[in-house]
Amino acid sequence: MTRRWRTIPLLLFSLLSPSLVYAAHSFENTAVVRTIELGGALVHVTTTYAVKSLENGSKDYVVSLSEDEAEKTSWIEAKIKGQSETLTIQTHALNPQDGVFLYNVQLPNALGVNGTITLVVDTVQTHATYPWPREAAQNEEQSLKYESDLFVLSPYKTATQRTKIRAPVPRIISFTTPEDLGPFTTDSVATKSGATITYGPFSSIPPSANKKFLEKHQKPVAVHYHYEYPVVEITKLVRTAEISHWGANLNIDNQIDLHNAGPTLKGQFSRLEHQSQMFYGRLAAHVLPAFNMHLPPGVHSPYFYDLIGNVSTSRFRPVPSVPKAAQANQFSVLELRPRYPVMGGWNYSFTLGWDSPLADSAAYDAATGQYIVAVPVHTPIAGSVVDDAEVKIIFPEGATDIEIFPPFPPLSESRSTHITYLDTTGRPAVTFKYKNLTEKHAGLIYASYKVPFSAHLQKTKAVATAFLGLFALALLTKRVDLRLIKA
Ligand SMILES: *[C@@H]1O[C@H](CO)[C@@H](O)[C@H](O)[C@H]1NC(C)=O
Ligand SMILES: *[C@@H]1O[C@H](CO)[C@@H](O)[C@H](O)[C@H]1NC(C)=O
Ligand SMILES: *[C@@H]1O[C@H](CO)[C@@H](O)[C@H](O)[C@H]1NC(C)=O
Ligand SMILES: *[C@@H]1O[C@H](CO)[C@@H](O)[C@H](O)[C@H]1NC(C)=O
Ligand SMILES: *[C@@H]1O[C@H](CO)[C@@H](O)[C@H](O)[C@H]1NC(C)=O
Repeated sequence: MTRRWRTIPLLLFSLLSPSLVYAAHSFENTAVVRTIELGGALVHVTTTYAVKSLENGSKDYVVSLSEDEAEKTSWIEAKIKGQSETLTIQTHALNPQDGVFLYNVQLPNALGVNGTITLVVDTVQTHATYPWPREAAQNEEQSLKYESDLFVLSPYKTATQRTKIRAPVPRIISFTTPEDLGPFTTDSVATKSGATITYGPFSSIPPSANKKFLEKHQKPVAVHYHYEYPVVEITKLVRTAEISHWGANLNIDNQIDLHNAGPTLKGQFSRLEHQSQMFYGRLAAHVLPAFNMHLPPGVHSPYFYDLIGNVSTSRFRPVPSVPKAAQANQFSVLELRPRYPVMGGWNYSFTLGWDSPLADSAAYDAATGQYIVAVPVHTPIAGSVVDDAEVKIIFPEGATDIEIFPPFPPLSESRSTHITYLDTTGRPAVTFKYKNLTEKHAGLIYASYKVPFSAHLQKTKAVATAFLGLFALALLTKRVDLRLIKA
């Protein structure tokens, strides 16, 4: 297994390395197209760069985001158009002189003079939209606002560029039409067609990843649009994955603080109105009555409880275990219906967990005596963001040689010992912390470890002692019972 660190802005503050003394004349963008897919808690941005090399041997292409964009961006990924392999990206700290963030994308092959390539850079922004108006009554619609910058930044010259902002539905309430675009265009710059607003084309743009360009030419744009789903934010997730060899079980327990980040409910909540809206199928978009989660195949015994107790209104459609390689296409569906509909601005805290056969996510390598277990970082609720996550993996008692391979670097990592009933020395545990997780971050944490034979024996001894204790107690009570009956 190899470590595949994927760099994430704001997580890795590598210093500006010498390789980033990039030459603004090594490439030229023949065309740049940015597509922004508006959503609720998440906004997906795809930028396509048609690139021409101006030098022999050009291998490092530099992508740039403004300070504000970089703060909102929690995932970045680059590929060659039409290929599935992701390219290595090196993230650099804010360049204070230019006021921009730079990302080094390593091309698979060096380009010769006039060589061309099309790069696709995907990013996911979190917390990039906000409800507008801020409040809505129970029967009112939900609309959100998104703000961005007009020009895509690049350290290279760009022959032509445009930005498309795509709303989920064509009923767009308003959008900015920027003016005074100086040398880049003479035509109308903003056009709406269906649910898409197109800005541009703009032509002959000089290198723009610098303060001079930003101050002189950059313009803000805003789009106000309808959004027909609740905006779900998990403000805190505490996930505990407990590996049990004794029970051949993997238990995943999630303590979840959910927040409806849509417009705050104006006035009192009326259950009668809610029932009637449910009856006529006209529930306002900012009301969250239920949601679905996709769990792996083979999962069983799900539990769902809140502060009051078990919530019985959930439905579970399991699929049986399948071979590990086939797991990506199949899932069990858990439909969760909280105790009350979660209105805009409201919170709902609950615990959700399940068990699965350990064999579904573990493997044993007899040659090295190592176990390998895969634990998902989180299980996303579609379209939601996890602000703060703590993921803890609890290993079997006596586990040694623990090594962890997260799919992307955590903000912090700590080790501890977890002691439960029947444990003698306690179980080693590793905890990771993350922020701003999206559905892109649902990757697997691989953990490898060994369990010495003596640890198995220790467990057997502890259990045997407990059993003997119970047995003795049973004998004792039986004797007592007998005596009572005979008396
Ligand atoms: C480009 O560079 C490669 C090696 O870096 C060299 O073999 C080739 O001759 C160069 N081509 C030109 C046109 O200079
Ligand atoms: C998480 O997102 C918030 C809001 O977009 C941002 O301010 C913060 O810097 C992000 N944190 C990390 C660690 O990315
Ligand atoms: C690159 O293209 C330009 C213009 O199309 C041409 O003048 C030049 O000779 C080309 N250079 C090479 C090395 O092919
Ligand atoms: C909740 O449900 C579980 C099984 O689904 C059961 O074992 C437990 O006793 C229940 N707890 C309460 C408080 O009803
Ligand atoms: C919801 O939780 C957040 C913290 O996560 C808190 O700031 C806010 O006041 C809570 N809202 C309500 C209505 O309790």
